[in-house]
Amino acid sequence: MDSQLKGKRALVTGASSGLGEAIAKMLAAEGAAVIVHGRDVLRAGKVADSIIQAGGLAEVAIGDLATDEGADAVAKTALRGGTVDILINNAGITQHTGWFDTPSSDWSDVYNVNVVSYVRMVQRIVPQMKEKGWGRVIHIGGGLAIQPIKEQPHYNTTLAARHNLSVSLARELKETGITSNVVSPGAIMNPMVEEWLVRSAPKFGWGTELEEIKYRAVQDLVPNDTGRFGQPEEVAGAVLYLVGPYSDYISGAIIRVDGGTMRSL
Ligand SMILES: NC(=O)c1ccc[n+]([C@@H]2O[C@H](COP(=O)([O-])OP(=O)(O)OC[C@H]3O[C@@H](n4cnc5c(N)ncnc54)[C@H](OP(=O)(O)O)[C@@H]3O)[C@@H](O)[C@H]2O)c1
Repeated sequence: MDSQLKGKRALVTGASSGLGEAIAKMLAAEGAAVIVHGRDVLRAGKVADSIIQAGGLAEVAIGDLATDEGADAVAKTALRGGTVDILINNAGITQHTGWFDTPSSDWSDVYNVNVVSYVRMVQRIVPQMKEKGWGRVIHIGGGLAIQPIKEQPHYNTTLAARHNLSVSLARELKETGITSNVVSPGAIMNPMVEEWLVRSAPKFGWGTELEEIKYRAVQDLVPNDTGRFGQPEEVAGAVLYLVGPYSDYISGAIIRVDGGTMRSL
C-alpha cells in the first residue's frame, strides 16, 4: 500500500527515544521527511542519523516544550525547511508518585509538559496547515486517561486532558482538511520497563526467566486479551494509518493500541 507520505514533512515531538523514535522511523521509512525533536542534540541526532543511514529524510529540531521560547525554537526550525503537514504531539514525562507524595507543583509541572506543550505546538504548526488545506495532527494519549489507576494521578489526568483537547481541536478544524485524532497506547515495552520488571521480579514472585517475568507482570499489572506488553512499532502503525490516505473521514477519534486492556466500549 502506498502511504502517500512522499513529499510530506512530519514533526514528531519527543522523537529522541521510545514511542516518538519508533513513529519517526516508521514515517520516514514510508517516505515522509521527518523532523526529529528532542531536548538533547546528541540523542535526537542519533535517531535522525539512523533514519538517514536507512535511506530516509530527517532533520533535527531542539527545544524544551515546557516553555514558550522552546516551542518557538522548535517551530522555527521545523518550518524553516517548508510546510509541516503532519504534527505528532508525543513528548511527555511521567513521575512514579502517588496522591499524598506528589506536591501541587508537580501536578502543575507535569500538566505543563504533557498538555500545554501539545497546545503550544498546535498553535505554532496548525495555522500554516490551514493555508495548504490539508494536515494531520495526532496526539499520543494513553489508556490511563480512561481507566486511571491510583498511582501517578497527576500523570493519568494529563492523558485525559490530551484526549479531550484533541476532540475539541477536531471541532475547531471543521472543514479545513485537517484532522485531529488520538492514538492511545496501553503498556508498551521499552528497555527501562524491561529492566524494572527484571529488578522487581523477586519481590512480586514473577519467576526468573524474562519471558515468564513479562507474562506474569502483564497478568498482575495490565491484564489484557493478548497476554503481553505492546511494542513501540505497534503504536507507530496506528499513527501511520491516521496520517495515510484512508483516514480522511476520521477526526476526533481515539484509537486504542492496548491489546484490549480497556474493559469498556
Ligand atoms: N510508553 C508507554 O507505555 C506509554 C503509554 C501511554 C502513553 N505514553 C505517552 O507516550 C509518550 C512517549 O512516551 P515514551 O514512553 O516513549 O517516553 P520516553 O522514551 O521517555 O520519551 C519521552 C520523549 O519526550 C521528550 N521530552 C520529555 N520532556 C520534554 C520537554 N520538556 N520538552 C521537550 N521534549 C521532552 C524526551 O526528550 P529528551 O530526549 O530531551 O528527554 C523524549 O524524546 C509520552 O507522552 C507518554 O505520556 C507512553
